[in-house]
Amino acid sequence: MDTEMLGRMPEEVLYLNGAFMPLSEGRIGVEDRGFELGDGVYEVIKVMNGRLVWLDDHLERLSRSLAEVRLSEALRDHALASALPELVRRSGVEQGMVYIQVTRGLAPREFVFPHPPHPTVLAYARSKPAPTVETIRGGIVLHAVGDQRWARCDIKSTNLLAAVLAKEEAREAGAHEALFMAPDGLVREGGSSNVFAVMDGVVRTHPLNNRILGGITRKHVIEMARDRGYAVEERAFALDEVLSPGGAGRELFVAATLVDIMPVVRVDDRVVADGRPGPVTLTLLDALRHEQALLVGLQPPPALL
Ligand code: PDD
Repeated sequence: MDTEMLGRMPEEVLYLNGAFMPLSEGRIGVEDRGFELGDGVYEVIKVMNGRLVWLDDHLERLSRSLAEVRLSEALRDHALASALPELVRRSGVEQGMVYIQVTRGLAPREFVFPHPPHPTVLAYARSKPAPTVETIRGGIVLHAVGDQRWARCDIKSTNLLAAVLAKEEAREAGAHEALFMAPDGLVREGGSSNVFAVMDGVVRTHPLNNRILGGITRKHVIEMARDRGYAVEERAFALDEVLSPGGAGRELFVAATLVDIMPVVRVDDRVVADGRPGPVTLTLLDALRHEQALLVGLQPPPALL
């Protein structure tokens, strides 16, 4: 543990506007536009073995989100590529995540932009265990909901109210994750995950557009699947295609930073195939776990399949 943090929980370190401090000492103004207007964007990055997984991908997406909300200048004075590993080191987090948020900062409340903006840039790390093998083997249940979100889901915005409500509804329905559905019955994505199906040996997922977030895990899953010889189609699929009777061999899974790949065994009261994680899902998860372990200098875990 760092001597400057002695006596505190090792992980409670905050990076705020260029300085490191104990998380409890961080202060954000009441009129911060992130707080009052949801005028901000964020990232969640996985930490394994004290290292940030796919950091470059996440920083690239953060830059993109900032450009889309016309806040590119926010990171001008922040070298996040070095500050974030430093944050993880100071935090002592081995397994968990880093949360980053960038807002248009403190200004008297107006909808239009303040000139110049004084962006708020913050990050902290948290310990969080990876899903257990038992959880993976048991799979998860999704609860389908209409997609009430705005039409720029490609921006990783802190405006998460529709996802908050959908995920809470899913929890109350006894499910683990919400499934955002388009009005025409096509699957968009999960409450905080991308969704994949395997049908007739083809790995399918919604194409990148304004209706979904371009997940970093999604990107790596697609690359890994292609590397392993699977056909991948970025083409939306209907829930009924996956769940219709006679769907033996069909698979469904979600992909997101903190869960990697998680098999889906049921959507509301409809069971996916035989109700057990499918072989393509587990093959891809094994490949992903292997790749990540090598990336952070760990022994690859035993294969699930
Ligand atoms: N959410 N789609 C949505 C709507 C998401 O919120 C997320 C991630 C993903 C998966 O993206 P990635 O593979 O880059 O994590 C897809 C993060 C983890 C969150 O809000 O906590």
